[in-house]
Amino acid sequence: MTDPWTPSSWRDRSAAQQPSWPDEAVLESVLKHLATLPPLVFAGEARALTSALGEVADGKAFLLQAGDCAESFESFSADGIRDSLQVILQMAIVLSYSAGVPTVKVGRIAGQFAKPRSSDTERIGDLDIPSFRGHLINDIAPTAAARVPDPNRLLQAYHQSASTLNLLRAFVKGGFADLGRVHQWNQEFVASSREGQRYERLAQDIDRALRFMRACGIASETQPNLHEVDFFTSHEALILGYEEALTRNDSLTGEWYDCSAHMLWIGERTRQLDGAHVEFLRGVGNPLGCKLGPSATPDEALAICEALNPARIPGRLTLISRMGADTVEDALRPLLAAVRDAGHPVVWACDPMHGNTYTAVGGKKTRHLDAVLSEIAGFFAAHRAEGTWPGGVHVELTGDDVTECLGGAEEIFDADLDDRYETMCDPRLNGRQSLDLAFRVAELLQR
Ligand code: PEP
Ligand code: CO
Repeated sequence: MTDPWTPSSWRDRSAAQQPSWPDEAVLESVLKHLATLPPLVFAGEARALTSALGEVADGKAFLLQAGDCAESFESFSADGIRDSLQVILQMAIVLSYSAGVPTVKVGRIAGQFAKPRSSDTERIGDLDIPSFRGHLINDIAPTAAARVPDPNRLLQAYHQSASTLNLLRAFVKGGFADLGRVHQWNQEFVASSREGQRYERLAQDIDRALRFMRACGIASETQPNLHEVDFFTSHEALILGYEEALTRNDSLTGEWYDCSAHMLWIGERTRQLDGAHVEFLRGVGNPLGCKLGPSATPDEALAICEALNPARIPGRLTLISRMGADTVEDALRPLLAAVRDAGHPVVWACDPMHGNTYTAVGGKKTRHLDAVLSEIAGFFAAHRAEGTWPGGVHVELTGDDVTECLGGAEEIFDADLDDRYETMCDPRLNGRQSLDLAFRVAELLQR
């Protein structure tokens, strides 16, 4: 791990979860082209996120990381981007207003196109065809031809990320995120629900506070932080050729940044200490995440801290636990204690989704909101017991009115799953379920 790092030094390590590209020459020419295209983010923005996450590591702020399991080339629209942003902004308002802590907002968006798979192949009828790996790599249609990895998809993903990011920047800096518009973020299908009404009451409180502030001479037109928000992008850094091609030397600091997103994370299936993903990410200056599932040991967690954040920069590393509702408390406590005792300034975030997925009676992958909330409660309990800060949540959601996860105040049952099951990969919370989750997290934070 102490060998010199270069943007391509990962190529000497074994890289899990990489597609078998049919033609290496085509891949190399696409990567060369990508390397000439403008970076999607600026290194200074990544540093701003590290410093915001440093506040989280210090127990002074909370991280909300949320978005799609996998973005799609097909269901790509301005409305979809706006609706996802709206839900995240609503959740952040609930968290900040109810719990009184600043919320750092990071989307799983503008680059979340690649999926690790538990099996390389999928059985369709009596054929084994390559698994779907996300639109960065192949198509979801269940035919062998559709599943052939196509390097041109890397370019399409880059361009879709650029347009998504462009619209997000316009929304969050151009007035859409103005605190005076909190009511307008409440989408119709959410507004009519119990959670939506609870949100509406909170929005009225905020209105009153804004009127009071205006009377005191503080108005959103003159106060950028009432008018704009900071919103960051993130995705799993899975396909390392793509990430390498977007890695650039920052002229201000001379350091390397992966300019495909502000924050990159390593998934549960690619966190091998001697593997290519850890090697690649240790050398870029961005804030990093690493998933930790129930098999993670305290020694592994410490080794990941040492590998990815040897300088112990607060906010540089977020450890994202995804244990499952029944195991989280017991599995997490030893990790919290070890990292705390070693003095590593990490952000601890709870992914309550990936340890609670199962196949429903009708054959659809789902998650029950009760299990999701129960994992979050266990995460908070573990932190309370160890005296550490439950720094954030990492969730899969959409602004669309989907029926993919069960439960919620307006309960979704097994039989409803077929109604609007639209995800390409894992089941996502809809707007109502997401708001419900935000209120529960705010209650836990208030204790
Ligand atoms: C994900 O976040 O979509 C994912 C695949 O998670 P994990 O690596 O934790 O399984
Ligand atoms: Co997922």
